[in-house]
Amino acid sequence: MEILVTGGAGYIGSHTCVELLNSGYEVIVVDNLSNSKRESLKRVQEITGKHLKFYEIDILEKVSLEKAFSENNIEAVIHFAGFKAVGESIKMPILYYHNNITGTLILCEEMRKYNVKKLVFSSSATVYGMPKSVPISEKFPLSATNPYGRTKLMIETILQDIYASDKEWSVAILRYFNPIGAHESGRIGEDPNGTPNNLMPFITQVAVGKRDKLSIFGANYATHDGTGVRDYIHVVDIAKGHLKALEKIMKTRGIEPYNLGTGVGYSVLDVIKNFEKATNKKIPYVISEPRLGDIAECYANPIKAKTILKWSAEKNIQDMCLDAWRWQINNPNGY
Ligand code: NAD
Ligand code: UD1
Repeated sequence: MEILVTGGAGYIGSHTCVELLNSGYEVIVVDNLSNSKRESLKRVQEITGKHLKFYEIDILEKVSLEKAFSENNIEAVIHFAGFKAVGESIKMPILYYHNNITGTLILCEEMRKYNVKKLVFSSSATVYGMPKSVPISEKFPLSATNPYGRTKLMIETILQDIYASDKEWSVAILRYFNPIGAHESGRIGEDPNGTPNNLMPFITQVAVGKRDKLSIFGANYATHDGTGVRDYIHVVDIAKGHLKALEKIMKTRGIEPYNLGTGVGYSVLDVIKNFEKATNKKIPYVISEPRLGDIAECYANPIKAKTILKWSAEKNIQDMCLDAWRWQINNPNGY
């Protein structure tokens, strides 16, 4: 079965391509390499010993995207392509709305034209805004606190409208919590540009000596140790969630959101302790001001994905730390 993967050269996309190829799918990647390198796809093929087809195209370019549909026999799409940096989205909202929303609209137009109505979409726990309580279930009210989050929320709404207009569509909306870690081979992983915004890539860069120390954004939250709590989940577990979602949408019609999280929250200090234990590296840190827009606690109720998709996370925080570290030491400057 041929699967189109948009944004397949990126962090989560590349790990998903590995799982797809290992499970016997034929993979067609479209990516404009705006936030990734061709090398990641070479390594996906090296890890799996299998070939994938790559189109270096921007999904905003309808004519180019159409080639991927006309030249292949695509049966479903996994849609990762988009921009994801919250701070950047506040500074450049037009860029974010255009890339994420127009990109998705063009993709859906092509899908409709080629009668491909099966879609797995990368959403985010950010669509829960400032949740009233934890754990967070799919039924919680949705809201967004920044343009990036609003693109995810708007796309979810657009997909609901598409399904409402044509009941042949089958869409899985995957709301990821905090993907971290890397493939156990140490060959593919997260390769952020410049200073990492997210916790784990910052920690690994401190550990490898690229940065002096970590700043912990706030230590007075109402959590067990005062630092922010998140649901960190191994990227390979996230990737496997896409295969389960794909199996589900191939058999059904409708549109459903699913949380992809472990259901367990770790604080920033917990992550540091686990990283130090897994790697024997010391992480120097200072406490600094809370980051604007951050919430105290965010973790999933993952029961829906477990019961309906038959998926749950298998890897623990030690695996996440060790695999993130292996990727970092083997590739100190990324790809
Ligand atoms: P990433 O930046 O590594 O991957 C996204 C890929 O899309 C990149 O390879 C980029 O080059 C490509 N891309 C962007 N715009 C494109 C366009 N117009 N045409 C073609 N390719 C384009 O990010 P990721 O961490 O792998 O995230 C994948 C998806 O998951 C994104 O939609 C992101 O918003 C979502 N998500 C990520 C996280 C996370 O923590 N990483 C959490 C929740 C949701
Ligand atoms: C960020 C994004 C969110 C996105 C999520 C997953 C912001 C404001 N939010 O959230 O939209 O869905 O990533 O990609 O960017 N921390 C530090 N020091 C650091 C970095 C982080 O203390 O240098 C803390 C944060 O305050 C937070 C935790 O570590 O408590 C995790 O941060 P991060 O990895 O950025 O993820 P989120 O805050 O969940």
